[in-house]
Amino acid sequence: MHKFESRTVEKSRALRGEIMVPGDKSISHRAIMFASLAKGESRVRGLLRGEDCLSTLKAFQSMGIEVVESGTDELIIQGRGLDGLQEPADLIDCGNSGTTMRLMSGILAAQPFFSVLTGDQYLRQRPMGRVIKPLAAMGAKILGRAGNSKAPLAIDGGGLKPTEYRSPVASAQVKSALLLAGMQIEGTTIVYEPHLSRDHSERMLRYFGAEIESFAGGARVTGPVSLTGREVEVPGDISSAAFFLVAGLIVPDSELLLKNVGVNPTRSGIIDILQQMGGSIELLNRRELSGEPVADLLVKSSDLHGIEIGGELVPRAIDEFPVVSVAAAFADGVTTIRDAKELRVKETDRIAAICATLGKLGARIEPREEGMRITGGLPLCGGTVSSYGDHRIAMSMAVAALQTTAAVKIEDSGCTATSFPGFWELLIAIQG
Ligand code: S3P
Repeated sequence: MHKFESRTVEKSRALRGEIMVPGDKSISHRAIMFASLAKGESRVRGLLRGEDCLSTLKAFQSMGIEVVESGTDELIIQGRGLDGLQEPADLIDCGNSGTTMRLMSGILAAQPFFSVLTGDQYLRQRPMGRVIKPLAAMGAKILGRAGNSKAPLAIDGGGLKPTEYRSPVASAQVKSALLLAGMQIEGTTIVYEPHLSRDHSERMLRYFGAEIESFAGGARVTGPVSLTGREVEVPGDISSAAFFLVAGLIVPDSELLLKNVGVNPTRSGIIDILQQMGGSIELLNRRELSGEPVADLLVKSSDLHGIEIGGELVPRAIDEFPVVSVAAAFADGVTTIRDAKELRVKETDRIAAICATLGKLGARIEPREEGMRITGGLPLCGGTVSSYGDHRIAMSMAVAALQTTAAVKIEDSGCTATSFPGFWELLIAIQG
């Protein structure tokens, strides 16, 4: 449980420095999962030690996986293969992490034992039918609260057959849950999605030796796959970098170099959005780390203008809309966000939370069923806002506060530990 602390952030002078953001959350979850399911030892460097990923780590430890720390930033995971997990003796607590719960549902649906997944008050409200239904169509026996739609989920694993599933939502968690079930059983499982969602599962499974194919409308795996322990370097999280990209753009005379950030095209929508808004962001030193593209990002303060955002750009920036909205509030003109209904079922209803928080600071922002309309360029005032227990709302408010006319107090700010331990310290460090 987070400490219900609060933080006050004041208007900042120019931001300067070279910074590293913590490891990518999505990639860290997958590194723990696939290293555990691989045969032999994996060494993972740069893993995010946020609460979400620690939930995944504890889940595998509770199923008999041995994990040791080595040196300052390396975790050694002794994988036991697809059939090496043991039945957990207790509930698996996924905390606040939707990725843990949905991906574990797919993994555990194919394991020959009983398991129960639960989570915090927010996660227990989030829709799980989107993975339960297609997994049930593969023969999975999963029972959940609220007519099989919410956690806790009880899973009586085993007895699956492959499927071909057309997902109504572009969701990497849904896609991954099915691929992770399908990869453990005989036959070919195919998942189609309306727009390409993040492809970290496909990339990392390939990196661990699985035959898995990505194509324009989805992905296909033929199981059972054989995964072999590897060395994994986790890049910095572009979703965490996003807060500093927007901070660097909106605070005058700023220049920040964000080193070693993952720029996978299924995740880099935030760079496209901010560049389209007139932001100066350069990608330097492009390279590849463990199958993932990486770059250093140089951001300089810029005059931003409003744009229209929708379509395939939405899943490519799905976690960044809280901070995109902050950029829009400081941009000249109108920004319209469409096709973003998924924001309603994130850690909180983010359309409601963004409108409430930014609105309280004086922004002109109107909710839409599937997005928002923001008229930017008006000065934002100080005040007290709640994070609604959502890490990305807390950090977005901190970024906005760097340019408000008076201080902003952010209540329930401890939730930043979900994805970004050290956020507040880094925010102070770049203010010189
Ligand atoms: C994630 C997928 C996305 C994203 C979440 C992490 C993942 O969720 O919002 O923060 O690691 O697969 P959806 O699959 O629900 O879009």
